[in-house]
Amino acid sequence: MRQPEIQLTPSGQLRHFIDFDGLTTAHLEAILTQANGYLGPQGEIINRPDLAGTTVMNLFFEPSTRTRTTFEVAAKRLSADVINIDIARSSTTKGESLLDMLQNLEAMSADMFVVRHGSSGAARFMAEKVCPTIPIINGGDGWHAHPTQAMLDMLTIQREAPRPFSELSVALIGDIKHSRVARSDIAALKLLGVKDIRVIGPRTLMPKGIERFGVQVFHQMEQGIKDVDVVIALRIQNERLGSALLSTKEEFYKLYGLSEQRLALAKPDAIVMHPGPMNRGVEIASSVADSAQSVILKQVNYGIAVRMAVMAMTHAGQSESAIEQSASEVPL
Ligand code: NCD
Repeated sequence: MRQPEIQLTPSGQLRHFIDFDGLTTAHLEAILTQANGYLGPQGEIINRPDLAGTTVMNLFFEPSTRTRTTFEVAAKRLSADVINIDIARSSTTKGESLLDMLQNLEAMSADMFVVRHGSSGAARFMAEKVCPTIPIINGGDGWHAHPTQAMLDMLTIQREAPRPFSELSVALIGDIKHSRVARSDIAALKLLGVKDIRVIGPRTLMPKGIERFGVQVFHQMEQGIKDVDVVIALRIQNERLGSALLSTKEEFYKLYGLSEQRLALAKPDAIVMHPGPMNRGVEIASSVADSAQSVILKQVNYGIAVRMAVMAMTHAGQSESAIEQSASEVPL
């Protein structure tokens, strides 16, 4: 059975970061506060040795540039040592099971794992079954969740959007069905009090029953984007183009591409976001991606601060549970 509380210590501190199950508004606000503390007046990253003497292992079973690199930068800014395990060349390809590999890595005294995996539930499996006493941070698992991306999106919205969360209209556009970013963004936006969350995309790329998560569904871009404050364009997975789910790039751009004309239907001070990697001319026009309304590069910088926050908090949470554990073992 799933145990949402696996992420939390008995006193409610974060000790893994897998998804938003069981987390409260206060947890998200605490992550934002901690992340803001790593940003200087110009938004520059401030180094702090919160992870000095620890080793962070980056386990990426799926390709990634931005996420892996920003986790690495974040760990180094906190004075941790970082080891990147290149899974494509590791012995899992020689038949070693994930479990065996993780146990070996744990025996090499890793203090934290950042994991990206193509299977939904991989990070939770690690936290529950393999190394519950080592912080596991989910860097994206299948279609399920990408919680640090969602938190960097929330930090970007908090710092760059024209109004507070409770007054915002936010639209997510594109392949909602296969997007772990969309799922995590929706969960985080709801916890932070955003009332108007819209998802825009073709029927074939919209999960059935998504309305029950409290979002409004639009199949017509012009209607969905009207008067929003935040526009989040999602990556169109090229592997799905030409399939039964999606016609051609040109067709997608014609119907759902974020062009200047469509952006003009949002509020005049709306901000534009994208998790990357972007397909210019497919989900977003180049001129919009590079416009003054775009905060896409700021997202990358804020991603470092958010990842520093999550790493420092889970490290502190695990240390606290270790102390609680040893205290409970002292004979009375
Ligand atoms: C996202 C991912 O991998 O889920 N990208 C990222 O983390 N920067 C979005 C995507 O690739 O579609």
